[in-house]
Amino acid sequence: MKIVHVTSELFPYIKTGGLADAVAALGAALADKGHEVAVFLPGYRAVREHPDAVKAERRHELRVELGEEFLSGEVRCFSPRQGLTVYLVCRDEFFDRRFPYGTADRGDYEDNAQRFIFFAKAVVETLRLEAGEGASGCRADVVHAHDWQAALVPLLLRVAERRHGQRLAERTVFTIHNIAFQGIAPASRFALTNLPAELRGIEGLEYHGQISTIKAGILFSDTVTTVSPRYAREIQTPEFGCGLDGVVRTRASVLRGLLNGIDPAVWNPATDPLLPAQYSADGLAGKAKCRAALLAAHGLAPAEDGVPVYGMVCRLTEQKGVELLLANAEFFLREDCRLVILGTGARHFEEAVAALAARAPTKIAVSLKLDEAASHLIEAGADFFLMPSLFEPCGLNQMYSQAYGTVPIVSEVGGLADTVADADRDGEHGTGLTHSPTAAAMADALHRSLALFADKSRYAAVQQHGMRRDFSWAQAASAYEALYNGI
Ligand code: ADP
Ligand code: GLC
Repeated sequence: MKIVHVTSELFPYIKTGGLADAVAALGAALADKGHEVAVFLPGYRAVREHPDAVKAERRHELRVELGEEFLSGEVRCFSPRQGLTVYLVCRDEFFDRRFPYGTADRGDYEDNAQRFIFFAKAVVETLRLEAGEGASGCRADVVHAHDWQAALVPLLLRVAERRHGQRLAERTVFTIHNIAFQGIAPASRFALTNLPAELRGIEGLEYHGQISTIKAGILFSDTVTTVSPRYAREIQTPEFGCGLDGVVRTRASVLRGLLNGIDPAVWNPATDPLLPAQYSADGLAGKAKCRAALLAAHGLAPAEDGVPVYGMVCRLTEQKGVELLLANAEFFLREDCRLVILGTGARHFEEAVAALAARAPTKIAVSLKLDEAASHLIEAGADFFLMPSLFEPCGLNQMYSQAYGTVPIVSEVGGLADTVADADRDGEHGTGLTHSPTAAAMADALHRSLALFADKSRYAAVQQHGMRRDFSWAQAASAYEALYNGI
């Protein structure tokens, strides 16, 4: 099959969260299964500067209709592996920026609607050009768009097919990685889409007097998926639907929850080049070295075997349960333990976690930056990994943690509930500790972690269960394949 993914992030070129990892790993798994995979990505500055992309070839010059204007753009291509081609949609005015969506100080860029409507239209225009090129062009069996940034693509394809009488994709799929990010813009931006006027209203993009691109993805794709079975159920409820649960319910018959996997080429402690020592379920000596290196790297006091090291890596936002962590500050100050937090995000959360570390600088460290290598060292060096998310579509770190023999402590929501079994409740299947998303329940789980850690053989058994689970993408990729085949 020719499978086209449209995404705003792709590891290792540009990443602000799990979307980048998920699409990269899915694309690679599908290519390994023999499919021809194309991934469309905005040509952000970081992407263009990556050594792979520097060699990219110019493939198309574009003129993209945006409201009353035609804007020029360019599509560049490179192939990072057999069966996979990355298409960069370039227009410097929109994408030659340091951050993809905005800055911490000023928030989202004011022209995000223009930028991503341009991106979606450039993708459709490219598919049209390539379909016209016959056998050498990329005529898609499936166009699979991810999140709000790409969500207009299925609808624009439908409209383009009608206008030009030419079929560009046999099937469209839209994946919701996080329904909290909705691509909301002022209603006046609708004009930039050049879509028929009837799509301006409530049956189309309109959302409480504004427009929402994710709504278009949900309504106008052949199939809608999200990244865990439990989140697929949750987003149909007012509690988790972020105002779109009604819209999601109208597509319940085509909605599927397919769990993400992890890319074993990137997240495997036996081969991970970012670690000071490698290890596996059969020999954990390397993990002890990583633990010591982690504490040293963050300037923390060495910790004896019996002292638990907790790690946390995430965007510092409400979603990730930073408030629950802060509500449990006393636990980390009082108990003999270590805590390492790596993250960036909301200014008030950055300040609050930094203040917590300042109260116990030999026990608690906070690193307020994006640092891929540091995230691997935390996954490897910690004894427990914290994910007290208030909601979590899938979550990747709890799977990385299990693969790395680091016992996850997670709230029972979305993909976290689908991938972590509680060691106290689920007996020999236990791979972590789970709690409901409240500060009190997290406190209880933290206390249970002390008991678990004190019982070395039980802790080791939980570690082993986690490390021996298979979270690889092979299974998830087969599920997507079946979906693409209309099964
Ligand atoms: P989300 O996409 O909601 O942020 P996920 O758990 O799916 O959550 O994925 C987050 C990814 O981003 C993980 O790979 C995690 O390690 C990474 N990450 C988050 N914050 C940082 C950071 N400050 N430095 C390095 N990696 C980070
Ligand atoms: C989103 C979600 C996260 C998920 C990731 C990849 O960013 O917040 O839970 O793992 O997408 O699908």
